Parts: sequence; structure tokens; C-alpha cells
Amino acid sequence: MELTRQTAEQALQEASKTNPGPWIDHVHYVAQACENIAARCKNLSSEQAYLYGLLHDIGRYAGVSSEKHLIDGYRYCMERGWEKAAQICISHAFMIQDINTSIGEFDVSVEDYLFMKDFVANAVYDDYDRLVQLCDSLALPTGFCLLEKRFVDVTIRYGVHPATIDRWKKVLEIKAMFEKQIGCSIYDLLPGVVENSFL
Ligand SMILES: [Fe+2]
Repeated sequence: MELTRQTAEQALQEASKTNPGPWIDHVHYVAQACENIAARCKNLSSEQAYLYGLLHDIGRYAGVSSEKHLIDGYRYCMERGWEKAAQICISHAFMIQDINTSIGEFDVSVEDYLFMKDFVANAVYDDYDRLVQLCDSLALPTGFCLLEKRFVDVTIRYGVHPATIDRWKKVLEIKAMFEKQIGCSIYDLLPGVVENSFL
């Protein structure tokens, strides 16, 4: 199945029926942020970036879960031949390529855990993986926000983990890397970020 805006939106619409929730709004903002930033990067397609942002949490179609949504999303995309989107379904949670840096719970089988461990360690990340990692931290279900606001939002929900600060540092590093490419602040490309950050 070809990955287009239409097929991706349809996938999301179906998923919103099996597991409705604020994650649907969140992924739309992530997609928009990915698109806007990628449009300013020489080597990225804003269209591809939008689609990867939109699909990164598609594993939530299977219901409320923790890290299980990563592998559910991976399989969902692989079944449709969306290989890069499948990688991002897992990679977006691992800005550090080590399974132990996860902040969620591995509500998966031992086989699936070992698969993910290996996958994370061996995946070759490109700027699309990094872009979704960054934009996942920029979008609340209500709109764009300061990275640091999202960091606190996630930490309140998931708790403090030994890797929490290293994960924050990595995302800030990715932000700096993209800002060098786009020649401005990422926040200049996120409409409503000021208003939403101060909500
Ligand atoms: Fe997300």
C-alpha cells in the first residue's frame, strides 16, 4: 500500500475509532511540526516528514498500552510496506539507542522485548528519525509548546527515570542540530507556540 496523506490519514481515522484519545491531536501537531521544519532542510522532504510524524504513534490503534505501542506500530507499518515509518514507530522513543533508556513499561512478550532491544541498538538513524524524536517533544494535544513544558508533562505522567536527563539533553542536541540547518529558532516555525506554552 502506498504511503500517502490519504492512506496515513485513513489509518489514523480508523485508529481513532479503536482507541480514541488525545494522542490523535498530538500526532497531528507532531506531523505539522515535522513538515514545517523539514521544509527548511535541504535534504528532507516535508511530505515524508509529515507522514512519519503522523504515523509515529499509530501502534496506539491496538488500545491503551505502554511501550507495546512501539512494536504494534512497527508491525502495522511493516504489514503495509511502510518500512521507514515502521522504524520511526520504534525509534521515536529511543533518542538514545539503548533499550534501557526507555521511560515506559515493556508490556510485551520476551520475544518482542528482545526484538526491540536488538532493533534499537542496530537501527541506523537519519534526520527523519531525529526530526520525529524532536517534534514528539514539541507537541501537546493542545498544540505546540516549549520543549521544556513537554518534558515536564511526560515526566509527570511517566515518572522520573535514570535516563530522563540524558534523554532531555539528547533532544536539546537534536534541536540545536536542526536550528543550525534551518538558520532560525524551531519555535519560529510553530504557529501558536507562545500562546500554547503559556496556557
Ligand atoms: Fe508521540
